[in-house]
Amino acid sequence: MDGRDLVHSMKAVGSAGAAQGFRTVRAAWRRRRADATGLPSRGVERARVPGAVREAEPGPGGGLLRFGRSELRILVTVNGAVFWGWDGAGPEPSYALAGQCPEPDPRAVLEPDKDGGWRVVAERVTVVVSRHGGIEVQTPGGVLLRRDLPPRWWEPVEGGPARWMQRSEVPADARFFGLGGRASGPRLRDGVYRLWNTDPGGSFGPGDDPLYVTMPVQLVVADAATHLVFHDTSWDGTVTLREGEEGAGSGHDRAGTSELRMEGGALRCWVMVGTPARVLMAWAALTGAPALPPAWALGHQHARWGFGSEREVRRIVSGYQERGLPLDAVHLDIDHLDGHQVFTVDRDRFPKLPGLAEDLRRDGVRLVSIVDPAVKAAPGNAVYDSGTVEDAFVRDASGRVVRGVVWPGEAVFPDFTHARVRAWWGRRYEERLAEGFSGFWHDMNEPTSFAAFGETTLPRSARHALEGRGGDHREAHNVYALCMARAAYEGLRELTPGQRPFVFSRSGWAGMQRYGGTWSGDVGTGWPGLRASLSLVLGLGLCGVPYSGPDVGGYDGSPSPELFLRWFQLGAYLPLFRTHASLRAGRREPWEFGPEVLEHARVALVERRRLLPYFMTLAHLARRTGAPYVRPLWWHAPEDRGLRECEDAFLLGDALLVAPVLEPGADRRAVQLPRGRWYDTVTGRAYEGPGQVLVDAPLSRIPVLARAGSVLPVRGADGGVELEVWAPARGRTGMGLMVADAGDGWEEPETERYVSRWEGRRVVVGREGEDGVGEPSHPVRVRGLAEGERQM
Ligand code: NOJ
Repeated sequence: MDGRDLVHSMKAVGSAGAAQGFRTVRAAWRRRRADATGLPSRGVERARVPGAVREAEPGPGGGLLRFGRSELRILVTVNGAVFWGWDGAGPEPSYALAGQCPEPDPRAVLEPDKDGGWRVVAERVTVVVSRHGGIEVQTPGGVLLRRDLPPRWWEPVEGGPARWMQRSEVPADARFFGLGGRASGPRLRDGVYRLWNTDPGGSFGPGDDPLYVTMPVQLVVADAATHLVFHDTSWDGTVTLREGEEGAGSGHDRAGTSELRMEGGALRCWVMVGTPARVLMAWAALTGAPALPPAWALGHQHARWGFGSEREVRRIVSGYQERGLPLDAVHLDIDHLDGHQVFTVDRDRFPKLPGLAEDLRRDGVRLVSIVDPAVKAAPGNAVYDSGTVEDAFVRDASGRVVRGVVWPGEAVFPDFTHARVRAWWGRRYEERLAEGFSGFWHDMNEPTSFAAFGETTLPRSARHALEGRGGDHREAHNVYALCMARAAYEGLRELTPGQRPFVFSRSGWAGMQRYGGTWSGDVGTGWPGLRASLSLVLGLGLCGVPYSGPDVGGYDGSPSPELFLRWFQLGAYLPLFRTHASLRAGRREPWEFGPEVLEHARVALVERRRLLPYFMTLAHLARRTGAPYVRPLWWHAPEDRGLRECEDAFLLGDALLVAPVLEPGADRRAVQLPRGRWYDTVTGRAYEGPGQVLVDAPLSRIPVLARAGSVLPVRGADGGVELEVWAPARGRTGMGLMVADAGDGWEEPETERYVSRWEGRRVVVGREGEDGVGEPSHPVRVRGLAEGERQM
């Protein structure tokens, strides 16, 4: 048992008493026994490399190359993404792909290269395969972006899954991002990153790895181009990264390296090349468009473990209302359930939940419910009984239903890798809808099962359907939460066809954005936790998961008023803006930190509400283009090395640059500006980028700068949409988009495209249409004008 297991089990024991403690010991032994008998031992292994290439068989979009001891399939698809798989692996089946594998690009042909190698030349990328199975990805101009050395396998002589290793090199100037939700970064420093979804137990900080959402997705940003590489394998593994070093013109650059080691699964990957925007667009085309949240899910949401009663929920909501603080949703944690059992209600504490939901709804506040996958193993529990009839629960190698321990005590786990089980689980949300819930918060779905020692998850030998292929938890673990999200999303689509499901999930994998978002999990209360919050959101966005946010204020303990406020101010500019805290943590209502914090928090809340049309537009753009709402500063200028290093500010869409305060005692901060003119949105002062400037950051606000020329849809004083336009620099033009969303439902609104420009001493704004530029459809307010200059 390592230290963290101990801490975890102590916490589990402490929070649920001695009986739960005993259960976690028993469960740990059970788990160990199951794996001792249920997992084949690897025995003697044989090492293997591909050997020399023998023949080639060209096919649509690429072809097949036969090596002495393996074969390689290469496929360039119509959207420009490149696939290759060793040992004959094809792109399907895959949990990451949104649908079927995209069509091959008929123009991509496999042709002989020098020294007995082969290559595929496509529009945006050239793939060169050496005689011994090294693979280079090059720009069309021949600049190297990635070199994969020939892979290695270790296969058990007695049969069974082969472990494998893939070492790759990237340009010396390249920087690594991604790998799911990581607590440090978003730029991934030298180190080892694990690919195994994990509840770190208790709260986490920047040094903790892995966390709840891991995925083998790397975004590599280099001078020559950006590329995304995805190894489509859900098994446990590690990625060891080492950034390269440039030899300062000496010609002795040291390449950056990435070494991927996997415990099993196919050795196959996808690569996308281009600008960051193009790469994310190709990634979304492959793995699915991000789900569109209903408008209310872009407002402010308030949660806590332990509201405890209907009365307390009403008290909190009134607290917001009496102080004129916008609130859009309240989340109920496991304490509203009957004995922590999923899909139940504690009627003593919440006697009339549908009535409460209705009252809140009338005031514009939605209820969101936690949903844990573990089902209490107790006959009489309706979910357990119906799941038993359905044969829904994960079994061990000898056919017995696997038992673990979670909040309700002894529990069983639905096998979400089975379509029939997903459909059954999806129908369970009917009970939640009848209680008045509008949204769903998936938790503990790594999956977590408390254990006094060993891993806090299911036995690796536990069996899963894996869509009929059959396999065990080693392969199913990382996609468990993804499949649970799919079950909920698809179930909700059937139950409430006119509404957009709102699901966010603690754990997940590549493609999870199709069903919803995620959140930080139990981020530790402290300044490092605040910083980690931003790393997580940025990193996840670069893996194609645009909707996420932290527990504002941190999950545990009590933040100082200043820390709470700075967290709140950051949260107001992140897609999921939710205050949340643990059972024993201090309060997180904005008025609990004194009158000064309350006033400043109000400003942040009001501003968030004002920006709602902009957030909604960003949600539509994320769905249409894969671009995250929250983007690193280098998004439009990946070649700017200074920006690549910057981790303490971000772009919110194209128009805003947000520079949160991440340390105590600050009243101003340095901000790295991308090229162009930027206005401080409060003082109106203009700054010229690129370069670093010092801006005011009093306690009352964090610096937010607007790009000159940008046009943002905001909510006007009368509740209607207004266009806020920031004057372009003289002689320049600007633009902005607006997607007028109905708040919910499936109507596909058109994108309104606005342009801004100078006409003499006036700034004019027009709407671009098929017949040229016309009048804008909303009132316009121009900002950033000097004296004597006018709008329209
Ligand atoms: C762990 C989750 O991360 C946290 O947000 C939640 O409050 C607790 N589980 C209790 O449900």
